[in-house]
Amino acid sequence: MRVVIKDNEKQVAEYAYEIVRMALVDRQYKVLGLPTGSTPLLLYSELIAGLNRTEIDFSDISTFNLDEYLGLSADHPRSYRYFMETRLFEKINIKPSNIHFLNGLTDNVEAECAEYEDQIAALGGIKLQILGIGRDGHIGFNEPGSSLESRTHYVTLTKETIADNARFFDREKDVPRWALTMGVGTVMDAEQILLLATGENKAAAVAAMIEGPITQMCSASALQSHPDVTVVIDWAAASKLQHLEYWKQAADDYDEMYDFLTAARRHAGLEDSY
Ligand code: PGA
Repeated sequence: MRVVIKDNEKQVAEYAYEIVRMALVDRQYKVLGLPTGSTPLLLYSELIAGLNRTEIDFSDISTFNLDEYLGLSADHPRSYRYFMETRLFEKINIKPSNIHFLNGLTDNVEAECAEYEDQIAALGGIKLQILGIGRDGHIGFNEPGSSLESRTHYVTLTKETIADNARFFDREKDVPRWALTMGVGTVMDAEQILLLATGENKAAAVAAMIEGPITQMCSASALQSHPDVTVVIDWAAASKLQHLEYWKQAADDYDEMYDFLTAARRHAGLEDSY
């Protein structure tokens, strides 16, 4: 797990943009997993700006969103599908047929979830999965207690998540009680993972994810065992990390480590592969 700490939300989004750009341009990744929520909004603005600068292109990119409320139609203004359409998809050159979403009005929850897994597999799996994190440590809607092996499934939302998401609704009682979400196992299958968190109200969840034990009581902690995860956070979200200095130094050291290794390999007469 690579932890990168930035001064503010804007810098978090700019750094995250670079990771996405490299994934699309250098690694030629074609399948993205996307989150909703407040956290990725600045990154989505960066992606739109990157497209306008012709640095990136979405014409052959496919997307799978993490989750959707049960009971809301795709065009309901509070649905995650509507959120993605208005915040990102309408503003980039993605083909509508390449956008994949769980159907919140499905008449068969189990079949809908199984089909989503099949659609992901049919496109060769998610290459870059972008994530936020809930105050209770959830990724997607995998609330505390969700199996770390879970596949796409329906979930009963916690009171905490309902309260957090009430800001998007007129009244708290309008927030759906259930949702469909990719499982933790589904997320863990992605080749590369990028998780963003900003603000002090995420500090406890961030500390549990990075330094706590791997436990289903904090589904984000599963990411500790993924081989390619970058966590980009601001100082407020980092404020409860016990080894804050170490994480900061380790992130700063990353480029220096490659320079050091290149020099050492050259000194040893080995081919410079870095
Ligand atoms: P937020 O949600 O970005 O709106 O804080 C994150 C999440 O619940 O995963």
